[in-house]
Amino acid sequence: MDKYIIKGGKPLFGDITISGAKNAVVAIIPAALLAEGVCRIENVPLVSDVLIQLEILRELGVRADVVAPGVVEIDASRLDSHIAVSDLNQKFRASYYLLGAFLGRFGKAQVSMPGGCNFGGVRPIDQHIKGFEALGATVTVENGVICAEAKEGMRGASVYFDGVTVGGTVNVMLAAAMAPGLTVLENAAREPHIVDLANFLNWMGADIMGAGTDIIRIRGVKKLRGCTYSIIPDQIEAGTYLAAAAAAGGSVTVRNVIPKHLESTLEKLAEAGAIITEGDDYVTLSRAGRITPSSFKASPYPGFPTDMQPQLAAVLTLADGESTITDEVWDTRFKYADQLNAMGAKIEVLPRSARITGVSSLSGAKLVASDLRAGAALVIAALAARGESEITNIHYVERGYENIISKLRGVGADITLVRD
Ligand code: EPU
Repeated sequence: MDKYIIKGGKPLFGDITISGAKNAVVAIIPAALLAEGVCRIENVPLVSDVLIQLEILRELGVRADVVAPGVVEIDASRLDSHIAVSDLNQKFRASYYLLGAFLGRFGKAQVSMPGGCNFGGVRPIDQHIKGFEALGATVTVENGVICAEAKEGMRGASVYFDGVTVGGTVNVMLAAAMAPGLTVLENAAREPHIVDLANFLNWMGADIMGAGTDIIRIRGVKKLRGCTYSIIPDQIEAGTYLAAAAAAGGSVTVRNVIPKHLESTLEKLAEAGAIITEGDDYVTLSRAGRITPSSFKASPYPGFPTDMQPQLAAVLTLADGESTITDEVWDTRFKYADQLNAMGAKIEVLPRSARITGVSSLSGAKLVASDLRAGAALVIAALAARGESEITNIHYVERGYENIISKLRGVGADITLVRD
């Protein structure tokens, strides 16, 4: 089994260049299926989720090529099928963005249910379905395949999301970009990757306003054209490396970032005792003193990101006192607690939250990643811990962190990838 071997307890020093945002690119690649012409997408992180997504498109007859490092070209002019029923869909969450893309292009779609990280609860798609139905589609789920069809064509409509959903907002934006009339999405997600998707679609000729606020207005256009577009930096990847420096100590600069996107993460890391300086496109974090406790709630953007919750929890295991963390997005996202406790941490999982009593040090252990960000939390804890750790199930980590080994070694970490 593939694993990371980490010899911890060394402070980290140096620079890390951040890749493009995984959760933006997995929405933008399916959006390219709406274009007449070639889309050239730059700053693409070639993580496993993206590689699988490109494979799915190729199975559909789409040209989806990595033409240079971090550069992908998509030409869907020969796409004539609205059906994507592939085992590959089970491998990652964003495969269900094909629903929105097919509905937008063909007015019908058949896509197998998505896989993706499982945080211990269900990951419903009722709000996606609500949006598609408002736009005129009939949606059924048969034998694990989601079937949607707008017999009289898609048309603009108002959609009020009952809860903030990134995936629902993306999927309905894709379905609405070419639906005649006005679509208004209320209580929409405001994450930077939603804005990135809207910018990409607008660059292709769409008419979308308000992305980044909770009301998005989409006036359907007749067609979309190919374009060249560069993906925003990954705020979660950047936050993860900063958290690693906060836990292990030292001074790390993340480059190619938009500091504004990292605001809530930086606030919390500063509360935990880190010293942070920002430039236009970089952030430096240093920590030499004790880690201080810091309680927080993860919530939709601009709140503290749930995708940084496990990594900050790993930092706070070493705080000088007690912290309480709550996750309002995924209320069972605490599967990493047992693993960190095996390293000597003191985390008590409560309903919807976790109480962390800081300890003075962690010890290396044999660890198993249970999902992408839990895996990142284990890497952080292992970098800070005394002794050697071995982390298995690293395919989860590889879903979202491009070149994690070389990036961490570049700042002095003793981490080795062992492929079995
Ligand atoms: N929800 C519903 N009904 C729906 C959709 C969502 O009740 O139809 C609920 C979910 O159960 C959850 C909340 O709404 O409690 C938010 O879910 P959301 O739809 O926003 O999540 P997602 O689109 O499935 C994306 C990211 C996740 C990230 C969440 C929240 C992608 C591919 N995935 O998931 O990223 O945690 O938004 O920000 O963009 C990760 O990168 O590690 C990751 C899991």
